[in-house]
Amino acid sequence: MDIGTSRWLALILVAIALGGCGETENSTTNVSDRVQASQALINPTQAGASDYGSQCLSCHGAQGIGQESLQAPALTSLDPVYIARQLRHFRDGVRGAHPEDTHGSMMAASSAGLSDPSIADLASYIDTLPNVLPATTIKGDLAQGKDYHLNLCSACHGSNALGNVALEAPALAGLNDWYVLSQYEKFRGGLRGAHPEDRWGVQMVRLAPAITDTDILESIAAYLATLPPEA
Ligand code: HEC
Ligand code: HEC
Repeated sequence: MDIGTSRWLALILVAIALGGCGETENSTTNVSDRVQASQALINPTQAGASDYGSQCLSCHGAQGIGQESLQAPALTSLDPVYIARQLRHFRDGVRGAHPEDTHGSMMAASSAGLSDPSIADLASYIDTLPNVLPATTIKGDLAQGKDYHLNLCSACHGSNALGNVALEAPALAGLNDWYVLSQYEKFRGGLRGAHPEDRWGVQMVRLAPAITDTDILESIAAYLATLPPEA
């Protein structure tokens, strides 16, 4: 290699290094922009937006897609009537009041001061958030999950798990897989649905002992996580 060639080589290497540096700086800025953008309130002029921003966003996220580390679920696929009922139940001690229900009690504390009109606004605000299919975290036998879903769950939750408004059974498509699992276990363990005024939760309490095998439950949760939420 003569001096000419090595000088060119050195120049090219410097150019690559500089280019690389520039890109790293750029992509860091982009990432922090994205983080900020993703925390910006969506539809800020909608009724309920400011309450959502100040009281809910920190746990459920600006997009309403939830945060597993806090066990706060995705909300976007749920019907507003169901959301409003859950908020009243948390506020009124019908859900989240069991002493062992740590995460339910976080949510109960977060809904303690809500009035009925602000609950209605929050539920209709959440309804304006775009539906998102949450990332999957659980692996399971999808064929087995489908079989159990169709034979044991779909009569109330619908064959595509989009819920049944008449029965007030919520959509399970669009929920986080880990949340489906944790709630099922709460119904089975009496941490959710045991309050005498919870006439919807009690349906799940009666049904839940039908599955005690964690592998089967994981298969159902994994299968449900493949079903798209309503557009
Ligand atoms: C401190 C964190 C936190 C805050 C703040 C919070 N939540 Fe939650 N939320 C949770 C957790 C955790 C759960 C799951 C409770 C459980 O396991 O039963 C939950 C559950 C819910 C559910 C039930 C969803 C379902 O599928 O049944 C709704 C609806 C909800 N939150 C809406 C809200 C709204 C609206 C606000 C603002 C007023 C809010 N949350 C504020 C943590 C939070
Ligand atoms: C008899 C009707 C019925 C059947 C069958 C049924 N469910 Fe439910 N399920 C409900 C109702 C009603 C609710 C709402 C409870 C409430 O309001 O708190 C519910 C709630 C749930 C929730 C909580 C969702 C949320 O957003 O918090 C999960 C998870 C769930 N069901 C899973 C299942 C699975 C899995 C099966 C089948 C193994 C099943 N359900 C079968 C009626 C039913």
